Amino acid sequence: MSSTFSTVVAAYDLAAEPYARKFVDELDHKPLDREWLKEFAAIVGADRPVLDIGCGPGHTTAHLTSLGLSATGVDLTPKMIEIASRTFPQSRFEVGDFGALRHESSSIGGILAFYCIVHLTPDQLVPTFAELHRVLGDGGVLLLSFHIGSEVKHVDNFLDTNAVLDFTFFEPSQVEAALMTAGFDNIDIRIRAPYDTEHPSRRCYIFALKPKGAT
Ligand SMILES: C[S@@+](CC[C@H](N)C(=O)[O-])C[C@H]1O[C@@H](n2cnc3c(N)ncnc32)[C@H](O)[C@@H]1O
Repeated sequence: MSSTFSTVVAAYDLAAEPYARKFVDELDHKPLDREWLKEFAAIVGADRPVLDIGCGPGHTTAHLTSLGLSATGVDLTPKMIEIASRTFPQSRFEVGDFGALRHESSSIGGILAFYCIVHLTPDQLVPTFAELHRVLGDGGVLLLSFHIGSEVKHVDNFLDTNAVLDFTFFEPSQVEAALMTAGFDNIDIRIRAPYDTEHPSRRCYIFALKPKGAT
């Protein structure tokens, strides 16, 4: 099982404030994440719009803004968007579902998806990636991250808030195959060990491109 829409929103509604306190400065302590975000920014460039999907409390969106990108954070949980908008007024945020984006086809230059596929079931990967592929323009880039493994971790007191969530771990090859089925290519997989401050799981970061000329 994975968490449904309503359980995700209910859980992050409860956990949004402690989540923001815990993670808002996390990039300060994650040099590889900063390096890969810089690489992402260089590929996208300043002229094309960028979405940070499942943006949570908005710190990665604000980081993209600080790198000169025209970034909008999108999250399903209104409380997360409220916190993000309050904390980072220099960035844009909106409530939305990354599985059914309001954006026009081929209108987006880059999509960042840090740790937001973690509540999907494996069979939801291809339709979700197909939606991201739809909104990306020619040569558009996706950078996503997730915990490596094959288990579903059930948490029933997330961040000491009584929030209940399932976290799905994925194998890199499984995510790579789903990206290719959805039409992405130039798939570049990076794996890192957890930092001391993180949950002790290995992490996968994947760059993937929408090929030029793809519809
Ligand atoms: C583990 S948090 C990651 C937050 C942030 N990206 C980070 O790296 O800290 C997962 C976030 O994804 C959001 N989310 C889950 N499913 C979503 C969906 N279908 N559309 C948009 N956001 C979603 C949740 O509300 C939550 O804020």
